[in-house]
Amino acid sequence: MGRLFNKHIIVAISGGIAAYKSAELVRLLKKSGAQVQVVMTSGATEFITPLTLQALSGNAVHQHLLNPEAEAGMGHIQLARWADALLIAPTTANVMARLAQGQADDLLTTLCLATQAPVLLAPAMNQAMWTDSATQANLQILAQRGYQVCGPAEGEQACGDVGAGRMLEPSQLLHALDKQFEQGLLNGKKVVITAGPTREAIDPVRYISNHSSGKMGYALAAAARDQGAQVILISGPTHIAVPTDVTLVAVESAQQMLAASLEACLGADYFIASAAVSDYRPAQAAEQKLKKYNADHGLNIALIQNPDILATMAQTFPNTTHIGFAAETQQLITHAQTKLKAKAVQMIIANDVSDPSIGFNSDDNRVSLVTADGVDELPLLSKPALARRLIDAICKLSPH
Ligand code: CTP
Repeated sequence: MGRLFNKHIIVAISGGIAAYKSAELVRLLKKSGAQVQVVMTSGATEFITPLTLQALSGNAVHQHLLNPEAEAGMGHIQLARWADALLIAPTTANVMARLAQGQADDLLTTLCLATQAPVLLAPAMNQAMWTDSATQANLQILAQRGYQVCGPAEGEQACGDVGAGRMLEPSQLLHALDKQFEQGLLNGKKVVITAGPTREAIDPVRYISNHSSGKMGYALAAAARDQGAQVILISGPTHIAVPTDVTLVAVESAQQMLAASLEACLGADYFIASAAVSDYRPAQAAEQKLKKYNADHGLNIALIQNPDILATMAQTFPNTTHIGFAAETQQLITHAQTKLKAKAVQMIIANDVSDPSIGFNSDDNRVSLVTADGVDELPLLSKPALARRLIDAICKLSPH
C-alpha cells in the first residue's frame, strides 16, 4: 500500500442501504493517509447522516450543487479538479441511469462530468434490478466511457434475495482505489510525444493547417507521466493546458516539429507520433502579405512535401520503440498495416476519421492497435481512458 498517501479522493454516496459501509471505507482511506471529501445525494442522507461522514473524513460533507455557501468554499468545479479519483459507493441503479444519460442535475452527476480523474462505481442494488436489461445497458455505456466498475458481489441481500448486487466490502474498494495509483510501468523511461496540428506558412498572416485538437496527444502525455515516465510533448498550436510535470516544446511547422523531435529523441525509449502533420507546405512562404492584385487569375500556391517525422525518427533512432497513428477514411486496417511496414514502426494506432463521433476534435475515440503480431480492436473510450489503455499496450510491446 502507501499509494493512497496524500491522494485526493472523493467518496460519493448515493441512496442505498450499503451507504453504511461507506463510513468504514472513509475511515480506511483516512488511515491510508488519503485526503477525503465526501459527497452525498439527498437519498444517501436518509440512510446515514452527513455528521458521521464529516467526523470520519475531517471535512464538511458536500450535498448541494448550487448552494452559495458551498460554492464560495470549494465549488463543484474546484472539487472536480481537486480529485485524483472519485468513487461512487454505493452506486444505485438510478445513479447509473443518470450517469449513462450524461445528466448533471445534482452535485454527484455534475462532478462526474466535470472531473478528469478516474471515476469508479461500486454498484449496490437488488439482484433483479442489477440483471434488468436497462441496468445492464447502462453498465455497458458507462464501462465504454471509461468508468471503472467494481463489483457487485454475489450473496445474500438486505432485501432477503440472493444474487449479484451486493456492494463490495470497504477493504476491496480501498484496494480498487489503491490500484488507481499503481505507477511505474514507465519508471526511468523517456517518452517523446508529438501532438496537435502543424501550421505551414503561406505568408506572414496565412497558413495551411488541419482540425487536430491535440487532445489525444495531451492525454497520452498525462497517462505516460502517471506511469512514471519523463515526458517531452512536442506540440503544434492547441488550446489545451499542458499536463503538469510534462515538458512542452511548442512548435508551429512540420520542419520545426522534426527538428524538435530529433533533439528530444536522444536517449528516448518511446516516440509516439500523434501529431497531425501537414504533409505539404508552400514551396516558398512569401515574406510579405500576399495582395489580391491578380484576383481574376486566382492564386496558385506551389506545395512541396514535408519530411515524414515518424519515419525519420524510426530510421534515426533504431533503439527507440516507435508508435504512430493512422487516420483513415477507408480500408482502415490495410492502410494501417502498410504504414506499419513503410515507416518501420512497432505499432500503428488506427482510427476511422470518417466517423464524426470519434477522432479529430471529438472527446471520444475508437481505435485498433496494429502490430506485426495482429490487430487488437479497442472499444469506444474517452480520450483520457483510451490514453491509459494505449500506454498499457505500448508498455507491453517487446523491446527490439
Ligand atoms: N506523420 C509524421 N510526419 C508526417 C506525416 C505523418 O510524423 N509528415 C505521422 C503522424 O503523426 C502519424 C503517422 O505518421 O503518427 C501517420 O499519419 P497519417 O497522416 O495517417 O499518414 P501519412 O503518412 O501522412 O499518409 P497519408 O496522408 O497518405 O494517409
